Amino acid sequence: MTMLELCEISKRYKDKLALTGINLTLHNGVYGLLGPNGAGKSTLMNIITGNLRPTGGRVLWNGTEIGALGAEYRAILGFAPQQQGMYDAFTGRRFLSYMATLKAIRRREQPGEIERVLRYVNMTENAGRIIGTYSGGMKQRLLIAQAILGDPRLVILDEPTAGLDPKERVRIRERIAQLSEGRIILVSTHVVSDIETIADEILLLKSGEIVDRGTVEELCRRHGAATLEDVYMRLFGEEGEDGTPHAV
Ligand SMILES: Nc1ncnc2c1ncn2[C@@H]1O[C@H](COP(=O)(O)OP(=O)(O)O)[C@@H](O)[C@H]1O
Ligand SMILES: [Mg+2]
Repeated sequence: MTMLELCEISKRYKDKLALTGINLTLHNGVYGLLGPNGAGKSTLMNIITGNLRPTGGRVLWNGTEIGALGAEYRAILGFAPQQQGMYDAFTGRRFLSYMATLKAIRRREQPGEIERVLRYVNMTENAGRIIGTYSGGMKQRLLIAQAILGDPRLVILDEPTAGLDPKERVRIRERIAQLSEGRIILVSTHVVSDIETIADEILLLKSGEIVDRGTVEELCRRHGAATLEDVYMRLFGEEGEDGTPHAV
């Protein structure tokens, strides 16, 4: 059984305290990290992936601090960051080949692995086109494809459905649900419907703090709400913490 532990993770950007001392233990399953814009989702994910140094606290993978795992952690980890638009001049296949090399997947194993992840996200037919010509949904699928290269045990997807139309949202959601066997998947979103049917557990992030966690049923019961959307509205209201309205 794999395990990811966060111990007292805090992050300060100059005078802004973005994370306030997060304690979390995750086992295999799909976890939905739910919170409005500015709650600290990307900050937390960038710390878990080792791309950002916390101000305080530790991230442990099966009991070992991730900094001590080095390249080994890169093989365990798949990450789809929030922003897209890099590598627009690459073809989809070339991008995956580049990412596979970064992940130290052996050269002779790369072609098979790249075709496997392309099939998985239904992108085989578009893989020869340059990324700059892709739709938002195709870019997101390619980001997910690179995140699952090498069959990682820990998959972090930061707002994988941002900017997608409703049909594409459903498709990505189904893909994520199918990945869940035998690994830890952490998916962030500010859209309740993205995760309420696929997450084994929801983590509610508010102002840099996990204010509650549980299954949809547990959270509804605890907050006296009929739906997870109601729980969300009670906790967060209509606006993101940075004042922007929720995008749908
Ligand atoms: N590089 C940065 N410098 C200063 N403040 C930042 C930086 N990155 C994020 N923040 C602030 O930290 C808070 C959390 O941001 P973020 O982790 O991006 O939240 P989310 O992903 O939930 O929208 C926000 O108030 C944001 O403005
Ligand atoms: Mg974010």
